[in-house]
Amino acid sequence: VYKRQTPTTLPTFLLIGPSGAGKTTLLTLTERNTVAQTHTSTAPLTIQALLPEGFIPSSSHYRSPGDPAYERSRRFLLHDTPGHGKLRHFAASQLMKPTNVRGIIFVVDASSVAEEAGLNEAAEYLHDVLLALQKRYTGAKTSRGPKEIPVLIAANKLALFTALPPHLVKIALEKAISEVRKSKAKGLKDSGVGMRGDDDGLEEEREWLGEGGEGSFEFGQMEEVGTSVTVKGGNVLGGDGSDVKSWWEWVAEQL
Ligand code: GTP
Ligand code: MG
Repeated sequence: VYKRQTPTTLPTFLLIGPSGAGKTTLLTLTERNTVAQTHTSTAPLTIQALLPEGFIPSSSHYRSPGDPAYERSRRFLLHDTPGHGKLRHFAASQLMKPTNVRGIIFVVDASSVAEEAGLNEAAEYLHDVLLALQKRYTGAKTSRGPKEIPVLIAANKLALFTALPPHLVKIALEKAISEVRKSKAKGLKDSGVGMRGDDDGLEEEREWLGEGGEGSFEFGQMEEVGTSVTVKGGNVLGGDGSDVKSWWEWVAEQL
């Protein structure tokens, strides 16, 4: 089902998100079709994967299974990054220079975001990921803008009784990102960055995620900078086995 070789031409999906969210477990499931014990990642890892049977790549809707072009379109790379706060430069460097990145799968633990500490950590990280995508878009030299990179927020561990359902994960993250945005702007002001004169106001604005103003942040605001954000729930591990169907559906739409 997979090969270890990593040709650079295949579409790539990045696994990003806080430590313990389930990124490497998802990668292992994809690679071996079974889950295995994982340890906190200290290095990135890329595998070549095949979209599972039953999911049709959007580029192949008019082809039939068995057609070589159909089979080719099912192939992609899955690139896992460490979520530990001190190891996020691996993900950051992927975001600075995304090559063939077709989408970002931001994995969160849906039970951890039910609590303030977990929610804030996820929101801060997601804020920075979205801001990187926004900067890439607004800083693009070409008039057509760079190819868009959609984001899937994979709300994992839904089977835990403490987990928030996906629609509440979305609302909680939007609210928490609004707070992150506010406190970052305040931090900039307090430190004097962007306050040297009127011209620097532009610089400051560029650091602001989504729409300006005092309103709250919503994922829909990312559409303007070429990023659609979708929240879908699942379980990499679960009492009744894995359920990552809605995530593969999303991946299929991007292929
Ligand atoms: P870092 O490598 O530190 O960034 O974390 P990670 O996102 O790679 O997390 P990892 O895949 O190592 O999973 C962390 C823990 O969560 C492991 O003990 C997994 O077994 C567990 N886990 C992963 N998915 C699920 C799930 O769907 N449900 C439950 N209950 N536990 C899960
Ligand atoms: Mg890991």
